Amino acid sequence: MQVIRFSDLVAQGQVACKRVFIRADLNVPQDDAGHITEDTRIRASIPCIEMALNAGAAVMVTSHLGRPTEGEFKPEDSLAPVAKRMGELMGREIPVLANWTEGVTVAPGQLVMLENCRVNKGEKKNNEELAKKMAALCDIFVHDAFGTAHRAEASTYGIAQFAPVACAGPLLAAEMDAISKALLAPKRPLVAIVAGSKVSTKLTILKSLADNVDQLIVGGGIANTFMLAAGLKIGKSLAEPDLLAEATAVIEAMKARGAAVPIPTDVVTAKTFAADAPATIKAATDVADDDLILDIGPQTAQALAEQLKKAGTIVWNGPVGVFEFPAFENGTKVIAHAIAESSAFSIAGGGDTLAAIAKYGIEKQVGYISTGGGAFLEVLEGKTLPAFEILGKRAAD
Ligand code: 3PG
Repeated sequence: MQVIRFSDLVAQGQVACKRVFIRADLNVPQDDAGHITEDTRIRASIPCIEMALNAGAAVMVTSHLGRPTEGEFKPEDSLAPVAKRMGELMGREIPVLANWTEGVTVAPGQLVMLENCRVNKGEKKNNEELAKKMAALCDIFVHDAFGTAHRAEASTYGIAQFAPVACAGPLLAAEMDAISKALLAPKRPLVAIVAGSKVSTKLTILKSLADNVDQLIVGGGIANTFMLAAGLKIGKSLAEPDLLAEATAVIEAMKARGAAVPIPTDVVTAKTFAADAPATIKAATDVADDDLILDIGPQTAQALAEQLKKAGTIVWNGPVGVFEFPAFENGTKVIAHAIAESSAFSIAGGGDTLAAIAKYGIEKQVGYISTGGGAFLEVLEGKTLPAFEILGKRAAD
């Protein structure tokens, strides 16, 4: 989909002295004391802001933080800790403005942060009046919030309808480019790893990928349901037996295209779900009635690693075992290192996946790490995200 890129407007000299409103996704995790525990999204949002400042714009940036009640601002909803962290990273003070929808004073070269946009009444429901007020604040609206690109809210969608110009920021554009490269024109073989506890939460993704990928590696509780579908016993492992027909349909659809869902040949089991539970490696055909499968076995991990090394493109969402427990991390660790060593273009996304990438220190060897959680999953489902839909429409105006 064609969208206007902010970088092009900058290159064309159309940004100097303009009021630029940037919607970023600065929704970062915080501890109980409000300290930011992980700042990737803040770091990822800075290039767009710097691009606007360097081009001589008057810059406003906003984001949601959490899911506050509209119209009821509480201190813990404040973007102040985010502004402080961003200010440290950028080496400047970033004032946070409250009650900003009626007007914002900001001069060219200045940067202000507009307080948590989800506190505004009408934000979630994309209220038209609110969106128009936001649009009136700017000459150029820049959507750079990939993590929120699957939401059609006033600060992500409505404002894009009514702002004089609406475009994609560099982060949104980079995410879009990486996803297109991985899913629309992939170098083959295309291998996807989809893991997680439930088939039901990722069924649409599995179905959508089943039409496109050459290998669909499943992991976690999802793999257990697929093992059941393949006629294997899984003991008391987490699974969704009512979705066996769906899992079988995915396996059959893949087979019909000459593609495959590799079923584990060995597994790591325990009798209880605990970090110190003794781990036993066994053949997938030997799982006992009181076993819990907590990881893929070393033979399976090795076989998958070989496939990943030969892949042209890899899409990764979800660890294949309980990697937080050392006794059950081997499968995820082997897969992570195989992705790192593969010459394939790899794209990874989702909270647990990012935690695994950080744990094994392979950030630099993954082709693209998405800042999106739910948004990344919806892209894998084959959906057109509202952000791209409205920016595409505006580009065609
Ligand atoms: C996320 O953390 O996935 C995004 O910031 C979106 O947040 P939301 O699910 O509250 O809309």
